[in-house]
Amino acid sequence: MSVSSRRVPIESQSVDAPLSSTAVFLVLSVTDVPGAVENVRATLAAISDILKNVAFRDLDAALSCTVGIGARTWVEVTRSPLPRELHSFRPVTGAHHNAPSTPGDILLHIRADRRDLCFEFERQVMDLFSGSVRVVDETVGFRYFDVRDLLGFVDGTANPVGQELREVTLVGEEDPTFAGGSYIVVQKYTHPLAEWRTLTTEQQEAIMGRTKADNIELEDADSGQKSHKTLATITVDGVEHGILRDNMPFGSPATHEFGTYFIGYSRHLWVIEHMLQRMFIGDPPGLHDRLLDFSTAVTGSTFFAPSAAFLDAMSDDPEPAPPVKP
Ligand code: HEM
Repeated sequence: MSVSSRRVPIESQSVDAPLSSTAVFLVLSVTDVPGAVENVRATLAAISDILKNVAFRDLDAALSCTVGIGARTWVEVTRSPLPRELHSFRPVTGAHHNAPSTPGDILLHIRADRRDLCFEFERQVMDLFSGSVRVVDETVGFRYFDVRDLLGFVDGTANPVGQELREVTLVGEEDPTFAGGSYIVVQKYTHPLAEWRTLTTEQQEAIMGRTKADNIELEDADSGQKSHKTLATITVDGVEHGILRDNMPFGSPATHEFGTYFIGYSRHLWVIEHMLQRMFIGDPPGLHDRLLDFSTAVTGSTFFAPSAAFLDAMSDDPEPAPPVKP
């Protein structure tokens, strides 16, 4: 996969694409129309060509797309066994808050600095998918001020960079067939913003574990209630296990919808699952992440993003995919 760069290369499956000003999170289910699986396979294999076609029209806008494939249709679509850790999103049930599992066979994470490029790319891909998929959820995210979420906090600071980024996101020799791929978990959260605003800034900062204005990390609590930052930090045998997040705000003031679309990329699925356990069940159990008192998870799906080479190789079919009628 590519190393972050504004202008080159145009390559699909760029997990480490630069932060963009806009993004589309498109979750699809494969239909049971005859020929659907073959058509999905052919469309996924064509993604890198479509990406080149659209991205080339403005290289500065850095259009990228990462495709994730879910466990339910993985074997049929890719004709390969499952990546070692891949399974459907496992719901998490805490005493106060739940992380539901919702359908999703294909994820397109489309990023660019121009909304029209995302739109055009999505249009061309959806034309090819034709009746072979059903849209489960489409969320258009936008970048808000200094990379802040709608709760007002800078979101993404602790993300790994450089060599560490590749180490925490890309599968390595532990699963050689899928080396260079990445596990993805997405969850759509909505916020009761009016309630959040009744808290003082100090109360909000204690929940997040960082100051609001200047984004300084606060000390971890020795005992009792832990902040979001602390609960999302996973340390096993003295080794910290990170992930890459590219969360985006979404919503509409007119309809009072305010949300955060969470997307996490990881070399190991268990790391994200462990974070969710600590947030929803709590550490110690009972002391859940107070961020959840102001954030409701409405979706939850897990995917594996294979390397660009794996995806392109899916085009090596002896026969072209049959046309699909919706
Ligand atoms: C840190 C917001 C959900 C994992 C943070 C920070 C903010 C934030 C503001 C501190 C700054 C930073 O380092 O990015 C949110 C919001 C969420 C959300 C608004 C949804 C409503 C999640 C979920 C996970 C997660 C579901 C994992 C499953 C992390 C991690 C960190 C973090 C790993 C960095 C911790 C560290 O300092 O090492 N989040 N988050 N977040 N969050 Fe979240």
